[in-house]
Amino acid sequence: MNLRQYLSERKAIIDESLDKLLPYDSEYPNIIHKSIRYSIFSGGKRIRPILVMASAETVGGSFQDVIPIACGVELIHTYSLIHDDLPALDNDNYRRGKLTNHKVFGEEIAILAGDALLTMAFEIISNEQNKVNSHKILQIINELARSCGTKGMIGGQVVDLESEGKQINISTLEYIHINKTAALINASIRAGAIYFDASEEQLNMLTKYAEKLGLLFQITDDLLDLEGDIKKIGKPVGSDIKNKKATYPRLCGIDKTYSIAHKLADEAKEIAGSFGEKGTFFNLLPDYLLTREF
Ligand code: IPE
Ligand code: IPE
Ligand code: MG
Ligand code: MG
Ligand code: MG
Repeated sequence: MNLRQYLSERKAIIDESLDKLLPYDSEYPNIIHKSIRYSIFSGGKRIRPILVMASAETVGGSFQDVIPIACGVELIHTYSLIHDDLPALDNDNYRRGKLTNHKVFGEEIAILAGDALLTMAFEIISNEQNKVNSHKILQIINELARSCGTKGMIGGQVVDLESEGKQINISTLEYIHINKTAALINASIRAGAIYFDASEEQLNMLTKYAEKLGLLFQITDDLLDLEGDIKKIGKPVGSDIKNKKATYPRLCGIDKTYSIAHKLADEAKEIAGSFGEKGTFFNLLPDYLLTREF
């Protein structure tokens, strides 16, 4: 498998589906649809929706069937980025290589665009009931909702904010990363598998994999914030330092952070080994994250 080609093909599928699902700029009230499309179509990697599709395939399903769930996850993720960039949170001016949503549309519309994306996600996912046992869709909605609530992403974001400028211990830092980032990644991977009736054993292995991958993803995000190339990452370098954020490099130093990241990648690959041939993407992804430039 050529991973870069695979990622770009899958991204194209998601981009096309999102374009069909979202209201046009020209639909009233235009400003909110413009704002939503501005942030959605600005070059995100689409990692979470790609994980939904890959996990469906890993348990023997077809990726086409979970595209609406995958798109829903990307809407949730984009909402979280719009709100994360607001002056009251990270106060960042660039995202995905463009001015942040509030810089272009104002804070009021940026807040509302985030709200709309979060609710639209669940509207789109619950629309698919006719294709599958509604019990499965209910479980997926429940897990996704939980992953972005106070026991997931929002919990992580709260402790991330509370920890600015403070000395925190490694377990609090782990709590932040597991919740603000790994929770949605975990729910994305589980969603694709749940849709196709994965066994408890398959779900347990995928969950273990997702926990490693999610933490690895945020640790490499911390590293890119420190050492990345602004032209490639499309968002400011040094935002975490500006905000005195609790990050792995700040708490452990760069070398230790790399060794933690490598260990997580090795552990994730070992778990992915048990997925067999259908798990090739999951096998390659950890190393890709270790060396990612954006
Ligand atoms: C950035 O996520 C925010 C984190 C949770 C680390 P991504 O790195 O997936 O951002 P996009 O979607 O590609 O812009
Ligand atoms: C963001 O973490 C996590 C969420 C948006 C939930 P960061 O604040 O590190 O993400 P970036 O670096 O702004 O993308
Ligand atoms: Mg943040
Ligand atoms: Mg941020
Ligand atoms: Mg970051």
